[in-house]
Amino acid sequence: KNNKNNKVIFEKPFGLDLESAKKLEINCIRVFGENQVFVLDHYFGKETIQNILFLKFANPFFENVLDNRYVESIELFVEEDLGVVNRIDYYNEVGAVKDIIQNHLLQTISLILMDRPLKFISKYIHDEKLKVLKNLEVLPYNLHLMGQYQSYANEAKIYGIKNPKTDTFAKIFFNCKNKRWEGVPIIMRTGKKLEKKCARLNINFKPLSKELESSVPGVQNNKIIFHIQPKEDIEIVINVKKILESDIVHTSSFSLYKEYAFDPNPSDGHKKLISDPINGDHTLFPTFEELEE
Ligand code: BG6
Repeated sequence: KNNKNNKVIFEKPFGLDLESAKKLEINCIRVFGENQVFVLDHYFGKETIQNILFLKFANPFFENVLDNRYVESIELFVEEDLGVVNRIDYYNEVGAVKDIIQNHLLQTISLILMDRPLKFISKYIHDEKLKVLKNLEVLPYNLHLMGQYQSYANEAKIYGIKNPKTDTFAKIFFNCKNKRWEGVPIIMRTGKKLEKKCARLNINFKPLSKELESSVPGVQNNKIIFHIQPKEDIEIVINVKKILESDIVHTSSFSLYKEYAFDPNPSDGHKKLISDPINGDHTLFPTFEELEE
């Protein structure tokens, strides 16, 4: 029997496509109130992801340069060294795009692209994220890449799956068609059995004008790098003059987490995302509307 203090947490996949997700949503709401249901995206339990909104909105000088006047491109990637290990039954149905891009990466990008919410409370944050998701479009390029790692077919064969067409690698280009971001390529990339495990969000700023660039050799484009894992950090790459020299540029990286006591073995995110539903806090959980988008 449903008691209104019950909470239900869904791990993905929340349906396998729009139709099945909507059906699940309707059935959930029929049994539970919307406030009782939480769809978990464990990336939102990660410190660096939660820090995106703080960096942006607690520091006006960052907020004011995050748009298409200054940003050249945004890259977001989750690369893994492991293959599908023992999850082939699940993975073979979904592939890289549904496993990582449609949830973790679209959710993360909605934080970096969203405008300042009216208030910093769950409802308004979700309203802004939703606007971003509605404006995101896959670019009509032939540069998108999908692939499959070499031993995947053999692994699949052990489970009786022949000639699997599943993507284990995907690189997709998006555009956000609003005034703030129109024209800035957003590149998302994910894959299994790659060189190493690494998840990052890079905001690449535009280069200096050609004239300035040639008069300051060695100058690099500014960057903000959100290190999601294995290391957690926010790094800012800027150019400064070398001490006692006149025109040689030295590129410095400021590590913003250095000063603080961060957990050397960070949780993958699930811990926090179990306690929030107990407290009825929806801030870090995608809404059904976001999922549909
Ligand atoms: C899960 C995917 O959501 O995220 C897995 O289903 C993937 O395939 C995992 O390995 C990656 O999570 P993390 O926290 O290690 O980046």
